[in-house]
Amino acid sequence: MMNETELLNKDKAYISEGLKLRFHPLTVKSAKGCSITDLNGKNYLDLTAGWAVANVGYGRKSIAESIYQQYLNLSFTTQLSAPSETMIELAEKLIKIVPGNFEKKVWFGHSGSDANDLISKFIPVASGRSKLISFMGSYHGQTMGASSLSGHSAQSKFEGRGNVVKIPYPNLYRPFSGISEGLTEQTFHFLNEVFATICPAEDTAGIIIEAIQSDGGMILPPKEFLQGLRKVCDQYGIYLILDEVKVGMGRTGKWFSFEHAGIIPDVVVLGKSLGAGLPISAVVGRKEILDCVAAGHMFTTSGNPLSTCAALESIRILEDEQLLSNAEQQGVRFMDGLKLLQKKFTCIGDVRGKGLALGVEIVEDQLSKKPDALKTAALCYRSYELGLLIYNVGIHGNVLEITPPLTISSQEIQHALITLEQVFIDIESGSFDTNKVLEFAGWG
Ligand SMILES: Cc1ncc(COP(=O)(O)O)c(C=O)c1O
Repeated sequence: MMNETELLNKDKAYISEGLKLRFHPLTVKSAKGCSITDLNGKNYLDLTAGWAVANVGYGRKSIAESIYQQYLNLSFTTQLSAPSETMIELAEKLIKIVPGNFEKKVWFGHSGSDANDLISKFIPVASGRSKLISFMGSYHGQTMGASSLSGHSAQSKFEGRGNVVKIPYPNLYRPFSGISEGLTEQTFHFLNEVFATICPAEDTAGIIIEAIQSDGGMILPPKEFLQGLRKVCDQYGIYLILDEVKVGMGRTGKWFSFEHAGIIPDVVVLGKSLGAGLPISAVVGRKEILDCVAAGHMFTTSGNPLSTCAALESIRILEDEQLLSNAEQQGVRFMDGLKLLQKKFTCIGDVRGKGLALGVEIVEDQLSKKPDALKTAALCYRSYELGLLIYNVGIHGNVLEITPPLTISSQEIQHALITLEQVFIDIESGSFDTNKVLEFAGWG
């Protein structure tokens, strides 16, 4: 058994920096419900759900049992060549819960990235058009296709495919023109300029968007924006793709965050929480897209029996325990508490979100709105010291992301808010040594 220092030293020595996104020296020994225990036996209330994966909480017995039984019964089949029941059942379920009164099909992979790679490959083929549009600040993953679609600062060091044009995401707190009034119209004006110049609508295959831009800073567009985008796509015959990898599967109080705008996408991309911790992603969408290239996006262990049976059990838990409505109700409670904190601390520029996808934007002061990445990093670190886990997101690295398991209780939220208040007091008093955060590069 390793102690904490040994684990951290070996992690430093052996694990690639390319795989790390660290905010503090947390180690993990075990986890249950919303709580994580480190190698020293210290407990933390987890407001991250491991980057929005543990939606049903950690250590679910019924999921463990179904994986165990599944392994005994059928440990593996490659679904590419010999399909089994759990994959088909999961596909049927996803086709039911994803809105859209048209013939749909499902593809399975392992990560949000490989699922968005399918988008990058298939949408141009299915439409017979070459270009794609995505949004500045978006995060669609790290494989080459997914990274080409992304507009996040984290991917700015890589070359991408040249067929993707990025347009501004309508962020009411930081409008791209500096003026928030009429932001929806401004964004469509920008899009029309793009159509008129570098990306003609008739050459545009698809537009991919997050209904809430989460890694980009937990940003919600004006409600009518997604409806407008649907109309534009209909007008020009462009596919609309919604990336729900992070905030989908119940986190916002509905199965999918785009449902709050009442739109129907052509394709929906899922991942992260889908397998309750086991790797699985899915693309659910129009048959003509998912069938456009036979044997065109295959991974040997895609849709494997263990991941698909975990996903089925996780969906059963979400339904039986009514976790979507818990996410909605607890989200309101959490948001109210955060807004009270905003009144007390001038470094909280904005509090926003939907359900249990919440963001707290940290600034030098509410008037200047100048992003304060160092303070944000210090807040994450001090939270960790006080037993609360929070990561930061945003293209300026200045948004605290709050995405706890959807099982979180009122008492846990109360505890989180009391701890957070102390964290803000400690940081604002200047007693925290910011040197501690310097070795944790976060998003780089
Ligand atoms: C919206 C969105 N899409 C795709 C991805 C990539 O998922 P993965 O890390 O599983 O490849 C992420 C990861 O944060 C995400 O937030």
